[in-house]
Amino acid sequence: MSKLLIDGYGDDLIINGIRLGDLSPAEHQNIETNKGGQNYSPLEDVVVSHVKDSSTLICRKPSNDTVKNYIEEELLDGLCCYSAVNQGQLNQTIVDAVVHHLVEEKIPTVPRSIRHKYMSGFLMAATAFTEMDRVVPKVAGVESWELTFKLCRRWGYEVKKIPSNKAIIVGANNNFHGRSMAATSMSDDPETQNNFGPFLPGIELVPFNDYDALEDLFNRKGDYIAAYSVEPIQGEAGVIIPDEDYWPKVSALCKKHNILLAFDEVQTGFGRTGRNFAHQLYNVKPDIMGCGKAAGGGILPVSFVAGRDDVVGVLTPGSEGSTFGGYPLASVVGIYAIKTLIDEKLADHANIRGAQLIEGLNKIKADFPDKIKDVRGKGLLTAFEMHHAKHLDGHKVSVGLLARGIYAKETHHSTVRLAPALTIKEHQINILLDAIHDVIKNI
Ligand SMILES: Cc1ncc(COP(=O)(O)O)c(C=O)c1O
Repeated sequence: MSKLLIDGYGDDLIINGIRLGDLSPAEHQNIETNKGGQNYSPLEDVVVSHVKDSSTLICRKPSNDTVKNYIEEELLDGLCCYSAVNQGQLNQTIVDAVVHHLVEEKIPTVPRSIRHKYMSGFLMAATAFTEMDRVVPKVAGVESWELTFKLCRRWGYEVKKIPSNKAIIVGANNNFHGRSMAATSMSDDPETQNNFGPFLPGIELVPFNDYDALEDLFNRKGDYIAAYSVEPIQGEAGVIIPDEDYWPKVSALCKKHNILLAFDEVQTGFGRTGRNFAHQLYNVKPDIMGCGKAAGGGILPVSFVAGRDDVVGVLTPGSEGSTFGGYPLASVVGIYAIKTLIDEKLADHANIRGAQLIEGLNKIKADFPDKIKDVRGKGLLTAFEMHHAKHLDGHKVSVGLLARGIYAKETHHSTVRLAPALTIKEHQINILLDAIHDVIKNI
């Protein structure tokens, strides 16, 4: 290895003589293009530097001006890291807890093969919050889904007595559960799957929100089906909200066939939809669910599986594990992510600000009925869909919003998702709506 020198912090962080604060957006892009994997196409000419308040990001670029060192732009965060920052950027309670535990409590980093005291705290908080018997910590959102998948299969063999290696996990069309091989195998998106095969067997898909299709599949193959593993509201697909009676009917159907209802609440959980968990909107309870994103309070990647005793209970030592899942700092962050959600009544905030946002979006739709086709949302998980036409391009809308100081991103060609922090203020929602109105008017 040639000599590598690393020094400093923030803009003054210097890697082999190159100071981060001196790099232009084009130079950042160049480094990513040449040294990174090309699996994202970020918005152009903008580089986020730091946080101004819980919903405002500051973007910085070096200035050639002799007076100013930097050109700074504010960005209202309409996405909050795909719902990972429900508690708001740098939530003070969570930051204080992290700093206190690192500096004052001398929190260690140890694996799960030795007990640490914060694990008990996390398990007590997470089981109470989810109203589930057992919780198993993981790190990324996809890992919580992946573990749910494994648990459903094992439950299928050991409790339901499905013949060995014959278990089926049912998913929904247009699902998104992350990027592991199992999640890739369940995906029906060609770009997600392209040249990553062979895929995991034992997966079948049904159309989302189609009770009859699910009933038909359960009638034909129910003895082999361990679980229906699904998002309660489909996020990446464009905030697709099922009929009000879909989940109650599906829950009853699952019970009838002794099939687990396994929810992926990675995006919909932690107050996002106006309830702590989206399934509470429908008065159903899954047998097992995966959580992630805001489970880490926007500070650390924290995820977990929560479930019924007999489902999570199939785990045995050696059958599952994770070096950083529930390590002391993650446990503390997990506890404080929950505490903040409760103390700051963030699910209620999501309802209030969500109603404001949806009402505003509906007004924009009324002003431009030839452009906007649909407005959808629960709490602060919202989206608007434009009519299918070449000029009504979600990416162009994102770029237009960026020019007006808003960070939001299309999910598909014609849908733009808006999922700001649950701490967002009334006037910030108005800024968001004014910008959307302006962009739609001009598109
Ligand atoms: C419903 C759902 N499940 C799983 C994931 C994967 O989470 P992660 O990217 O943290 O692995 C996501 C991410 O967007 C998601 O929306």
